[in-house]
Amino acid sequence: MSEGAGDWWRRTTIYQVYPRSFQDSDGDGIGDLRGVIDRLPYLADLGIGTVWLSPFFASPQRDFGYDVSDYTAVAPEYGDLATARELIDTAHALGMRVVLDLVLNHTSDEHPWFLESASSRDNPKADWYLWHDGRGRGGRRPPNNWKGPLDLRTAWRWSETRRQWYLASFLGFQPDLNWRNPEVRAAMFAAIRFWLDLGVDGFRLDVFGWIMKDPAFRDNPLRPRLGGGDVIRLRDRVFTEGTPDNVVLAQDLRAVVDEVDGADDRMLVGEVFGGPAKVRSYLGDERRPGLHLVFAFDLLEFRFTARFVRETLERYEREFPAPSLPATVLENHDRSRVMDRVGGDERKARVLAMLLLTMRGVPTLYQGQEIGMRNTYLPLRGALDPFGREVLPWMPEWISRRIPERINRDEVRTPMPWDGSAGAGFTTSAHPWLPLGPESGVRNVAVQEADAGSMLHLVRDLVRLRRDRPELHSGSLRLLPAEGDVVAFAREHEGRALHVVLNMGPREALWPGSGDILRATGPGAEATAAGIRIPACTGVALVE
Ligand code: NOJ
Repeated sequence: MSEGAGDWWRRTTIYQVYPRSFQDSDGDGIGDLRGVIDRLPYLADLGIGTVWLSPFFASPQRDFGYDVSDYTAVAPEYGDLATARELIDTAHALGMRVVLDLVLNHTSDEHPWFLESASSRDNPKADWYLWHDGRGRGGRRPPNNWKGPLDLRTAWRWSETRRQWYLASFLGFQPDLNWRNPEVRAAMFAAIRFWLDLGVDGFRLDVFGWIMKDPAFRDNPLRPRLGGGDVIRLRDRVFTEGTPDNVVLAQDLRAVVDEVDGADDRMLVGEVFGGPAKVRSYLGDERRPGLHLVFAFDLLEFRFTARFVRETLERYEREFPAPSLPATVLENHDRSRVMDRVGGDERKARVLAMLLLTMRGVPTLYQGQEIGMRNTYLPLRGALDPFGREVLPWMPEWISRRIPERINRDEVRTPMPWDGSAGAGFTTSAHPWLPLGPESGVRNVAVQEADAGSMLHLVRDLVRLRRDRPELHSGSLRLLPAEGDVVAFAREHEGRALHVVLNMGPREALWPGSGDILRATGPGAEATAAGIRIPACTGVALVE
């Protein structure tokens, strides 16, 4: 790679591709790796440094790839290994890095490892998953009180063959691997090395904090509190999530990726949850480094107020002091799109895009975010996404429709609209795997490409600004005085500064500073003798 420096991942902007919905190249209505290759020049032009691909490994696709049945094979509808290799090489030739999505916590229940493990109590892989005898008469009560998503039902599933329970922390068809078994570790590390040898630049680690459970299978204590996403959690998951052994695993994994091309050439970014100290602990320490980055998900649940933004920036400075960095994210394939969180007000989505791309951290964009793609309402009944069906099968449609989180994640996974043609440039099939969003004809890449005032142009300008300006990709962050609905901060690097001022209020604001406007999120911002005049819901980036 041209960019030899080991800490490329500090300065990068990540773009999440959900392959199934990005670009279909063979007309079957399902996106594929050839389609991604065809669109790589678009991403390079956008200024993207790193492409993160959601899983494309062999899978029964019951959780659309997050249920892997072979970690070193490509699902046939997405392509083959040669195409994966070509994708990696083409991205590199365009100056981009490639990060794959590793699901380490669980496999599909159709993975040959699980089929063998489930076949008897004494087969060679009998201990590859978390099997346990049940309680009560005939062992028909789950071994302990560990619960699945949202604490709603037991995380244990009964196997009639083994007359035992196996743990499935997410959905029933995703049994948890037993990472305390050295053979499991060796097999998974071999899969990781396989992809590293093929040239991938790192991994996004799915639910990383769930992997190492309490070896004594102790009950989680009852302690009701508000969990992430305003969900009430009844139990503290001390024995199933965020155990100290996960940190050791992070360090061990780091050692594996550091084997190739020396320390820091490949990057690990973890999907982890918990308080700041917990989340930071996955980064390891000087003696034994862990993950390079962890996602900070706070912005997914933003309130569009200056106060929220100010507090978040202050908190990140405390919780991720340099040289550590949060991986920041506004939307992904599991959660609502920003445009819907702001009630369809694109001015607000633009201000948030400016925040994401100018604050200190490693920003991640989810495909379609750059054009302000919306959720597409799709009823729970008929959802392809198994989440709602398994976890909240009783949820009435009128509730699901009203709550801000999307229980049917199909709604945030509809195909990328590239142009106004019948298949939106995504597919030539009349039957894409999920319907196109209703706005595809008017809100698409081609339309926005042709409009210099579009969201796409804004995001592209900001991504490139970040790529090209050391103040933004490597500078410190300092909040500047600002009142009311305005947030202002300076990004500084080796004596040069760039100022970002966001007016998050419904009225025009005057920020009593100065500078030339490099980029504004919308029209009307102006540098005057009295200060910078900023229209309602508008952000500006300034240089002295
Ligand atoms: C988190 C992923 O982002 C989600 O899409 C998936 O369903 C679960 N982990 C289970 O792997």
